[in-house]
Amino acid sequence: MTDFAYRLPAIIDTLAEHGWVVVDDFLSSAEVAALRSEGERRHTAGEFHRAGVGRANEQHVRDDIRTDDVRWLDPLDRLPAELPYWTCIAALQAALNRELYLGLRDGEFHYAHYPAGGFYQRHRDRFRDNTARVISCVFYLNENWQDSEGGHLRLWLDAEGQGEYRDVAPQAGRLVLFTSERFWHAVQPASRPRWSITGWLRRAEI
Ligand code: OGA
Ligand code: MN
Repeated sequence: MTDFAYRLPAIIDTLAEHGWVVVDDFLSSAEVAALRSEGERRHTAGEFHRAGVGRANEQHVRDDIRTDDVRWLDPLDRLPAELPYWTCIAALQAALNRELYLGLRDGEFHYAHYPAGGFYQRHRDRFRDNTARVISCVFYLNENWQDSEGGHLRLWLDAEGQGEYRDVAPQAGRLVLFTSERFWHAVQPASRPRWSITGWLRRAEI
């Protein structure tokens, strides 16, 4: 956490300038491994469910759009393995409010597991009728990910999501932040299961 606090100003500068930033070593490798084990334990315990598409009250599973299963983190029941994540996300949220006046009030985060061959088609994270999601945060839990295994986050840099893009490998310890409203993105199929904690920092809905 100490180290992350020192790196925050540069991270926020890059996010403010480009609208997205990649942060490696957001947590230590021991902390990432503990989170990954917790995710796997919860998955084995049957706590995950297939992720839906659409607004909260009208979600439905669409095999042609996304194939991940998810488990929401419970802010009122934080397990030891999850504490470093909560601490660093809180520091990030406070710094974003202080430096960029984003007015972030809370966050929602879930473990996500993509089976081998899994994907999430090109999309944006903010619903037209709900402006609460401001910053998308994707944190990867995959040790020794090889580029050849695929599974990249594809982030389009243009407003229409049809031009230039960047591919980011889902490497353990890597956090990707981007503004939820602006960026079209997709998860490319991978040859092995892919684990992450994905979430959104939110402001009051307007
Ligand atoms: C999402 C998403 C990206 C990733 O869950 O909305 O876009 O790299 N995830 O897992
Ligand atoms: Mn997304």
